[in-house]
Amino acid sequence: TKQKLWGGRFTGKTDPLMHAFNQSLKYDQRMHDADIRGSIAYAKGLTKVGILTPEEEKKMIEGLKIVGKEWADGLFVPQEDDEDIHTANERRLGEFIGPLSGKLHTGRSRNDQVATDMRLWLLDQVADVEQSLKGLLTVLVDRADGEKEFLMPGYTHLQRGQPIRWAHLLLSHAQSFKCDLERLQQLIPRISVLPLGSGPLAGNSFSIDREFLRQELGFQSIAENSMWGVGDRDFIVEFMMWASLTMTHMSRLSEDLIIYSTAEFGFVTLSDAYSTGSSIMPQKKNPDSLELLRGKSGRIFGNMAGFMVTLKGLPSTYNKDLQEDKEPLFDTVDNISASLKIAEGVIATMDVHAEKMRQALSADALATDLAEYLVRKGTPFRETHHISGRAVALAESRGCQISELTLEDFKKLDSKFTDDVMKVFDFETSVEHRASIGGTSLKMVERQISVLRAAIQQ
Ligand code: ARG
Repeated sequence: TKQKLWGGRFTGKTDPLMHAFNQSLKYDQRMHDADIRGSIAYAKGLTKVGILTPEEEKKMIEGLKIVGKEWADGLFVPQEDDEDIHTANERRLGEFIGPLSGKLHTGRSRNDQVATDMRLWLLDQVADVEQSLKGLLTVLVDRADGEKEFLMPGYTHLQRGQPIRWAHLLLSHAQSFKCDLERLQQLIPRISVLPLGSGPLAGNSFSIDREFLRQELGFQSIAENSMWGVGDRDFIVEFMMWASLTMTHMSRLSEDLIIYSTAEFGFVTLSDAYSTGSSIMPQKKNPDSLELLRGKSGRIFGNMAGFMVTLKGLPSTYNKDLQEDKEPLFDTVDNISASLKIAEGVIATMDVHAEKMRQALSADALATDLAEYLVRKGTPFRETHHISGRAVALAESRGCQISELTLEDFKKLDSKFTDDVMKVFDFETSVEHRASIGGTSLKMVERQISVLRAAIQQ
């Protein structure tokens, strides 16, 4: 008769709804590979302390590899009583190697096992996510590099402010993602900590060599406190915080592009590959890719916030509440991975309309430059700001642009204006004036490109 792994002290049966409620296999089977790797390392560790003979170890590792291959090939058949990935693998191992499988869990608990699996699994995912983030950064930088000459209005409050290079805008988003890349890399040492060998909470009673386990599994360090080792899920929170912030950047980038893709702006057109139509309005081409990127940020933030609430107030070490770490983490990994790839595709394939950007530039975006012209002639900026403002008001009253005012008009506003004032009304000159580090001049845009390319190489 079948009995649960932990069934010894039980006489009553589990309520069927409780059984399903408790069962995590449907989602934690994603960690099958990490679970097998952890068990193989642990089996070797058991041999080192004499719990397994070398022959037993060999048999056990062969069995574990067969179980792992079943998962990889999609042939593993879960049984009704498999509670989670750990019990499922142990049950299946027993079907291959018999009672010897019962030695594998010596000194180990699912508490140190699951914490180890989660860290191993997440480390693999972080490596993938890092590549995807670098992919997104690369298209942003490449696009900026190829479109450095395009000028457009830069906005504050969504009102036209000053002329900028289109590349400068793209790179402003890339700067955020560069910080995200650094932050992601900084998470790794805190994820890469070995819990295995912590036992259920108090430590391992068979002198297992944890330094050996660390090396076998490729962790950077060892959990120095067994209670922390089994109870800590901060690495999951931190990853989800990282994803929340990264998605905030994704959402702001998307918002810019959604606005710029409207007919009213017309700066960019998304490729068909990343747009969808309307079921009723035949003319529509909607930026659904960008809207989903913006929308996913809410869900990812929710995953993080939800799990933080789960953790808050838990007593020390392992509590079953911790099983609730998996679905939000898996969902976060899936959605951030997809989002990074979609964003890369959108940016790589969209059309950018330099003429439309240029047309959106009007001379009022040069009012700051006009004020700065007088500053260069010795007038304090606070005064020149007013004089330029009066030029704007005069042009407005005449229904023309400030660039269409005459030299006589300017001279009436301030005696320091001379005929070279007309040179102010050139967008190229304006952007080239912003030549300090971080400005929108060509040299400074090129400087940003090389800084970002170096970060991508890291
Ligand atoms: N499925 C469990 C989880 O994800 C594994 C650990 C179970 N440990 C225990 N003491 N019941 O958290």
